[in-house]
Amino acid sequence: MIDSSRSAGDVSDLERPVTLGPEAYTSADYARAESERLFRKAWLQAGRLEDIPEPGDFITYQLGPDSVIVIRTDEGIAAYHNVCPHRGRRLIDVPARQRNARGKRKSFVCGYHGWSFDLAGRNIYIPHADDWQGCLSADRTGLGRVAVDSWGGWIWINLDGKAGPLRDWLEPAATMLDPYQLQNMRPRWRKWVVFDCNWKVAMEAFAETYHVSTTHPEFNAFGQFRGWARNQGLHSNIGYDAPKGQEEDAGKLRLGTGGDPRLTTAELQDFTWANANTNTTLTMVEAARRLKDELPEGTPPAEVSRHWIASARAADAARGVDWPMVEPGHTAQAGTAWQIFPNFQIGHAVNNMLCYAARPYGADPDKCIFEAAVYELYPEGEAPLTEWEYTEPADWPPVLQQDFANMAAVQQGMKDGGFRGALPNPYMERSIASLHQNLARYMGQGAPQPLR
Ligand code: FES
Ligand SMILES: [Fe+2]
Repeated sequence: MIDSSRSAGDVSDLERPVTLGPEAYTSADYARAESERLFRKAWLQAGRLEDIPEPGDFITYQLGPDSVIVIRTDEGIAAYHNVCPHRGRRLIDVPARQRNARGKRKSFVCGYHGWSFDLAGRNIYIPHADDWQGCLSADRTGLGRVAVDSWGGWIWINLDGKAGPLRDWLEPAATMLDPYQLQNMRPRWRKWVVFDCNWKVAMEAFAETYHVSTTHPEFNAFGQFRGWARNQGLHSNIGYDAPKGQEEDAGKLRLGTGGDPRLTTAELQDFTWANANTNTTLTMVEAARRLKDELPEGTPPAEVSRHWIASARAADAARGVDWPMVEPGHTAQAGTAWQIFPNFQIGHAVNNMLCYAARPYGADPDKCIFEAAVYELYPEGEAPLTEWEYTEPADWPPVLQQDFANMAAVQQGMKDGGFRGALPNPYMERSIASLHQNLARYMGQGAPQPLR
């Protein structure tokens, strides 16, 4: 819908075609400015609550030059700048080749001169403190606080403390995703890698469905679904237009199409399980395999879908795993994934989720730390203990490797003098225009320009 009261240059509805310059992806100055203007001002997803189950458990989180310690205390969660107030040594070192440090402490002792801090961040020991002649205040000698909160089972931090309430930041994503009870899911696997592309190139590779039929042609055999992308304020979401009569299928729990839906659904599930290891669970795969025995030939697709989902739901319930109920109308609005500004994506469902995050690697615009985690529901106490695993691109599931193959090539192409700027699909890739519209608000440059 076009609002004729807007000027021709106004692209705020993002429904009209826009173009995006390459600077946000390639400029060293832009990358340097991101820490100050964007990342310190945003709520950032910094880990899961289950990573720090008990008082004293901590993790670190690094973004560009900034590192944060997130710790469980008797009162809740606290976050501190990972820097000693004495002469600036990092308080907690991150071991080489690890995504983050993790451990349990009663207090923190700086390894340089021994200044010590309790879990509330207060300084509790300074060797030869009298030498400062009474001039050291608690303000100067305690750890710097970072705003921290939780939602969806994740820990969120805001470095400058001025981003306002987390809930406000996350809306409308939080309200749309709350019914999925993401806080109850636990990781099945978590992998990370350093890529030769800007963090936005990595996020955008997963923020649209326009690429699926070309980058992942194997899925075409299971029917082509047209995907949409919507701007949602700071955030955006993507989803599929479900075929008529199969509205339940607007979420991720999709039937295969074409041929006998009992068989194609099992094939699609087996293929997804083996080649992506995302977006489904073993329960779903096994329920799909049973369809041919449980339903007669000729069962209409909508009924196959209902039976499959009900049968998987019952199988999980029997082992103590209860999926939340989400209305089909809500599923259609919530879509299949939310891009949480600036650098996190939640691909939700009632029984599993696939999440991506990407962040700068130092201040190099051509590199990023990319990570993906797959979660599902487990019976109480049976979730596996997973660690973040550094995984070379060739060792990721094959479908993800297909996405990876585009990333470095996009980064190189964006720097080519012959590149005239990106032309995101206004319907299927609006999430990308949304990201850049919001980035421009923080960065003061790079707003999407209308195509004339
Ligand atoms: S830098 Fe930490 S005690 Fe000196
Ligand atoms: Fe993909």
